[in-house]
Amino acid sequence: MSAQSPSSGRLLAFPEHWPLADALADRLALPAVSYTHHRFPDRESLFRIGTDVRGSNLLLIADLHDPDPRYLQLILLADTLRDLGATRIDLIAPYLPYMRQDTRFNPGEGVSSRYFARALSAHFDSLTTVDPHLHRYHALAEIYPIPARLVHAAETLAGWIAASAPDAVLIGPDEESEQWVSDIAQRAGAPYETLVKQRFGDEDVRVSLPHPERWRNHVPVLVDDIISSGRTLMAAVSHLREAGLPAPLCVAVHGVYAPDALAGLKQAGAAEVVTTNTVPSATASIDISAAIAAALESSR
Ligand code: R5P
Repeated sequence: MSAQSPSSGRLLAFPEHWPLADALADRLALPAVSYTHHRFPDRESLFRIGTDVRGSNLLLIADLHDPDPRYLQLILLADTLRDLGATRIDLIAPYLPYMRQDTRFNPGEGVSSRYFARALSAHFDSLTTVDPHLHRYHALAEIYPIPARLVHAAETLAGWIAASAPDAVLIGPDEESEQWVSDIAQRAGAPYETLVKQRFGDEDVRVSLPHPERWRNHVPVLVDDIISSGRTLMAAVSHLREAGLPAPLCVAVHGVYAPDALAGLKQAGAAEVVTTNTVPSATASIDISAAIAAALESSR
């Protein structure tokens, strides 16, 4: 991994990620780069950098959920910094979008994960991200030509679960989640089981729990990497309630909620929905900054 030494650089962030950036700046003892973002009446953007960045190594933290408008702002900001003399720019995208279109699911579709990876890589020296959705790809290197550093949220999630739900049974929403959920369960000292899931469309998901009778005296904690439409966890919550289990907690790394996802989860019977702050939202109360800082420091 050839990303910069964090102690030699400066840091800046998209405004949504200032709380995470502040936490990282404290942990890594990095000074900030100041800038302003002007929106013209026609909605074009102009960035003005207030710090002399000539010769600097920069860490740029960007929220990239809802990526289409944010991507253009990101590259305008990065190219402005480069134009003003920044030596290198390492991107921290705590949530990495466009990872789920990892094959041509239907004739005529594009494999947008590849196109997005190529486009992003043209502007940065390295990428750091938290638990990207690696399903058909085994490593980001399969699509990202720049060095990519993975941060794992398992320890952070396990710590939160152990402290918040001592009688938990962890439940993975599908068989593919088993490796991930078993790792978190082991770290949290809790049992686990995975649901059997079938998806019939973007918004039609059906699941079943193999042994509901085992868990009636536990707090069910559904654990997933991402909540998007929320359909996966809604189906899981409804099924667990129908099977006679207590109202489950839903815990995920990335909450990229479609408009009705959170309300739908509450309506389905979730006791609480909690995510890390890889994506800023009302549920993002699990702080991931220690895991990101540790990953950056370990590759000094
Ligand atoms: C699936 O492989 C993922 O781990 C998530 O379960 C899924 O992407 C969640 O999506 P949604 O909230 O749209 O059901």
